[in-house]
Amino acid sequence: MQVTMTVNDVEVTREIEGRLLLVHFLRDTLSLTGTHWGCDTSNCGTCVVWLDGEPVKSCTVLAAMADGHEVRTVEGLAKGAELDPIQEGFMQCHGLQCGFCTPGMMMTCRALLDKNPDPTDAEIREAISGQICRCTGYSTIVRSVRWASVHEAAAAQEAGAQA
Ligand code: FES
Ligand code: FES
Repeated sequence: MQVTMTVNDVEVTREIEGRLLLVHFLRDTLSLTGTHWGCDTSNCGTCVVWLDGEPVKSCTVLAAMADGHEVRTVEGLAKGAELDPIQEGFMQCHGLQCGFCTPGMMMTCRALLDKNPDPTDAEIREAISGQICRCTGYSTIVRSVRWASVHEAAAAQEAGAQA
């Protein structure tokens, strides 16, 4: 079957098997290997991408279900050479060690900040509760999201003051 979807603002059309999962479509067909595949049980959350702006585990979605929809992956987080504050936060606060869980964590946390720019630590932990980090524990991840939240608020205030 043929599918057409927009991935990171680019329209793509491919012939696929109907049983192909979105995670494999992204990784193996489009070579967007930033989205990771970490389990067979829908538990780890390393595969989180956005489908029409909502975080989803791409191992639970058929590529065919994304036909006609918008997908964003971690490759589409930065704006050109400018990292998203979430990416900066993970870098500044050591939110990763091996980095395997990081793309999924960042996609979930970016979506959280878009809905709730000043989340509590409990709200951040709840947002990532469907995701597993086998390295850092979760404290540095929470700290990274707080860093992004604080810096985004400061940047918005500065932009407002200059307007
Ligand atoms: S690969 Fe583990 S939840 Fe999707
Ligand atoms: S940084 Fe290694 S699994 Fe999270």
